Amino acid sequence: MQKPVHVGIIMDGNGRWAKQRGLIRTKGHLEGLAAAKRIVKAASEIGIRYLTLYAFSTENWKRTAEEVGFIMGLIKQYLRAEFDFSKKNKIRVRHAGNIAGLPLDIQKEITDTIRDTADFDGMQVVLAINYGGRDEITRAVRKFTADGKDAGELREEDICAYMDNPDIPDPDLIIRSAGEYRTSNFLLWQGAYSEIYISKKLWPDWDKEDLQVAIDDYMGRDRRFGSVANQE
Ligand code: FPP
Repeated sequence: MQKPVHVGIIMDGNGRWAKQRGLIRTKGHLEGLAAAKRIVKAASEIGIRYLTLYAFSTENWKRTAEEVGFIMGLIKQYLRAEFDFSKKNKIRVRHAGNIAGLPLDIQKEITDTIRDTADFDGMQVVLAINYGGRDEITRAVRKFTADGKDAGELREEDICAYMDNPDIPDPDLIIRSAGEYRTSNFLLWQGAYSEIYISKKLWPDWDKEDLQVAIDDYMGRDRRFGSVANQE
């Protein structure tokens, strides 16, 4: 099989990584950010067209104010500091999630980065921040009805068209680090037929080799989309 066009990643295990080393959780997120940078570079080198990173979920607000504030700070730092890298590698940055629910400074950082990278034609990195699959579907249906359309006429294609990034193809492969077997509200709609790859390795330990192993595993699979196997 061809390499995946769109890869989504649930970057899990930052807290456990820190705990194993007797460090505070925020140190795990700091290393998680470094891993995210490595993987963006690696994915771009491998030739992935779209990479969606689950950076902050709609449920992550339940964490302490200190941890939430730290992650928001990292996101801001990432958006600012990575611009030169994006420019050099023609990486276009996009956002998925409920932007209105984010602090104003983060909203501005996101919209500025989206604008400043809009013409770059390399890999597209979608940052899922304040993202929840259920929330995205709910917002899509609301936007549909707000456009004066009749909910009784709603079709699957309409939901697709009102998602946050309707032009981006569904993820072919969803990777989850740190060994948990759940989707955690990530790309619920778009992930209906995604291949799932779960690795025990904690996110801060990820590097290009891990991404390559996941992609090679994916390429050895048989995708049937509800049909039957190729019977030759
Ligand atoms: C999951 O680990 C990780 C998060 C909720 C935050 C991820 C954020 C980053 C890596 C930084 C921002 C990244 C970008 C690309 C802007 P966890 O805390 O749930 O780990 P645990 O399950 O071991 O406690």
